[in-house]
Amino acid sequence: MNRILLLGAPGSGKGTQAAKITQNYGIPAIATGDILRENVAAGTPLGLEAKRYMEAGELVPDDLIIALMNDRMHEDDAKNGYILDGFPRTIAQAEALDEFLAKSGGELDHVFYLTAPKDVLIARIAGRRVCPQCGAIYHMTRFPPKTPGVCDVCGAAIIQRKDDNAETAENRIDVYERQTKPLIEYYEKKGILMTFDSALGSEIVQAKIDEVMAA
Ligand code: AP5
Repeated sequence: MNRILLLGAPGSGKGTQAAKITQNYGIPAIATGDILRENVAAGTPLGLEAKRYMEAGELVPDDLIIALMNDRMHEDDAKNGYILDGFPRTIAQAEALDEFLAKSGGELDHVFYLTAPKDVLIARIAGRRVCPQCGAIYHMTRFPPKTPGVCDVCGAAIIQRKDDNAETAENRIDVYERQTKPLIEYYEKKGILMTFDSALGSEIVQAKIDEVMAA
């Protein structure tokens, strides 16, 4: 069983690595940001509530996220493992995850912490484009699609996320520093945190993660 948590600032490469792990190991990536964006697009009550926080680069309140994840982690595809991307993001969320794991008789196998300097994060966020249909992630200069503006995987028109502007990105990184960074110590104390320098490039990070997963 592989229960993996990806931790890191906005733009550190969590979504990029989650997609590679899913591809290589067949375990689903559960990304709270993606689930929230789907809810915003569908205009659900959760989406309507979450939208203003997301567009300001603030965290959506813990109670909404914990309820959402309790449901999602009980779905069938999560029975044989999962990659958590973007959850937990606060100590309260981490404690809720611990409770969920205790009830289901399991624990996290790995916490992979991706690091990069702030200027690198900002440049990645500014250049990111995503496919709204299949979720593929691109970068305008580093990982552009083969045909400009068109997703390699499904052919849809790629877009820029609403929260990927300079001002919101700065705030997201500040929020991360204040509210999510304490989780580094939380998981260090549990002895399951491994740190990877994501400024080295996504293939190198992927190879290092593969080494750990294969051990
Ligand atoms: P979310 O969607 O989770 O966004 P995030 O944490 O800000 O993370 P990002 O998606 O920006 O970055 P990433 O680390 O996945 O980087 P990526 O792989 O795309 O959350 C959005 C919002 O939802 C939050 O602000 C909040 O409002 C709300 N939310 C979500 N979860 C929540 C929770 N638990 N509690 C409360 N609120 C919550 O890579 C970035 C770019 O860099 C890409 O273009 C990629 O191609 C490129 N790249 C990636 N890796 C490398 C590399 N190693 N070298 C070079 N380029 C790279």
